[in-house]
Order: sequence, then structure tokens, then C-alpha cells
Amino acid sequence: MQHIVREQLYTDVVYRFKYVASFVDFGEKDMEMIKASATHLAPLVPAVVDAVYQKLFSYDITKAYFASRMEGFSGKTDDLSHLSLGSEQIAFRKNMLSKYLVKLVTSEFNEAFIKYIDWVALIHTDNSNKSTSINVEFIHCNALMGFVENVLIGAISDLPLDADTKKATLLAFNKLLWIQTDLFAQYYVWDGAEIPNARANVKGVKHVAETARTVAARSALPADSTTSIALASIAALGLGVVAGYLLRQA
Ligand code: HEM
Repeated sequence: MQHIVREQLYTDVVYRFKYVASFVDFGEKDMEMIKASATHLAPLVPAVVDAVYQKLFSYDITKAYFASRMEGFSGKTDDLSHLSLGSEQIAFRKNMLSKYLVKLVTSEFNEAFIKYIDWVALIHTDNSNKSTSINVEFIHCNALMGFVENVLIGAISDLPLDADTKKATLLAFNKLLWIQTDLFAQYYVWDGAEIPNARANVKGVKHVAETARTVAARSALPADSTTSIALASIAALGLGVVAGYLLRQA
């Protein structure tokens, strides 16, 4: 039996990666399969990226994230009413996503890679290391990961590979994407929050109250009006309860 130090899962990203990798049986063979698939998958990257953005633009709640200024982007930023898949900021994002997908299939799975996929997760949160706070809520990250996995399964299933290689490649990507999802989850869940040097605390990841404010700001709804709506709802609920009580007494 292996001994796992709980606190280290929250303070040491390499230790965390190794634990989850070991749990899902992600090993040397999987790394080989992923690297071997690179020549087949690289030409498919533009189509995967297009499919991802089509999907993200199919819902107002996910499309809205792309209307704010992004870190490292100095071009023209279209606001939500002008935002389209042809907008400059989307071309920039597509390019970054392509680089990510290429790195997934070409990297060495060393510490630098672990830190990169950890950073990719972190930048989606509202945290004190970042000049732009996008705060993509976890529900969308998880859903998108499911979508990416579906697209990959479809693409790999169509590759001209023998059945064993195909199966091993599918298993390898499945494991890798779950590991990436765990790195997203670490910044969204509260587990380990009581550990002062937990990485989410060190990076200043913000939760709850800040989330509500950011979401309100993104949808161009003043935070105050969200609060007013919430207070009005509570007041209405309270009045309803009192009225019900009085009616029963009458
Ligand atoms: C879980 C799956 C996801 C993966 C693997 C992923 C990957 C990435 C990558 C690689 C970058 C670029 C990092 C760089 O600048 O090099 C990025 C940035 C970004 N992603 Fe995601 N993403 C995911 C989910 C989402 C979702 C669901 C949304 C919105 C609904 C989103 C919105 C953004 C935005 C707005 C940026 C720009 C951040 C900034 O620079 O301020 N992402 N993502």
C-alpha cells in the first residue's frame, strides 16, 4: 500500500500530479501512445479548435467570457454585441488553444509540462497572480473537457491504426484529460482551503463573493442590481411566509 500525505496533495503540484497519474494508471506506455499519435493528430488540431469555439459560442453563458480583455492580447477587443467567431480576440484564443493541444501530444510529461497544465487551469480562475480576471466557473470547464474528450475519441477512432494501438491511445488520452481536469478542480473546490500554503491560497484564488461580483460585471449587470434582486427576492419570500401565517391564523 502506498502512503499519501494529504497536505502535500494541496501544496505540491508535482506530488499531486503523480498521485492522480498513479491512481488512473497513467504511465510510460500512455506517454508513448500519446507521443506516437502526434503525427496523426497534429493535422486535426485546427478542426478540433474550431469545434471547441463553435461549442463555446453555442451558449450565451460561455460566449460571454470572451468579450473581456485577455492577458497578452493587445489587439482590438470586440464587446459582446460585436463578438463573433471571426473576432480578433478569438483568432488569438484559437492560436493559444492550438499550442496547448500540440503541447499535450508533444511534451515530455516532465515538471515543466505539469506546471504548464497547472497554469492553464489556474488562469481560468479569479486569482491575484493575474491582471485580467475571467473566472470561468467550473461547470463550463468540466463540460468543455467532456466535449474535447468526445472530439478526441471520434478523431482517434477514425485513425488508420490497428485495434490494439487505437485502444491504448484512447485509454492514454482519457487518463491525461482526467489529470488535467483534476488540476482545474483543485482551484475550484474548497478541499485543502484550511492549509495556509495550499497552492490555491498561495495563488490568491478567490471564491464565492468575488465570483458573484465577477459574473455580474461580465453580464453587464451592476453587482448592486444583483444584490438588489437577491434582497428583493428574500423580502418577497419573507412577506409570503408572513402572509401565509396570518391567513392561517385568520
Ligand atoms: C477545461 C477545458 C479548457 C481548456 C483545456 C482550456 C485551455 C485554455 C488555454 C490553453 C488557454 C490559453 C492559455 C495561454 O494564454 O497560453 C485558455 C485561455 C482562456 N480560456 Fe480556456 N480552456 C478550457 C475551458 C475554458 C472555458 C469553458 C472557457 C469559457 C467558457 C474558457 C475561456 C478562456 C478564456 C477567456 C481564456 C483567456 C484567458 C486570459 O488570457 O485572460 N476556457 N484556455
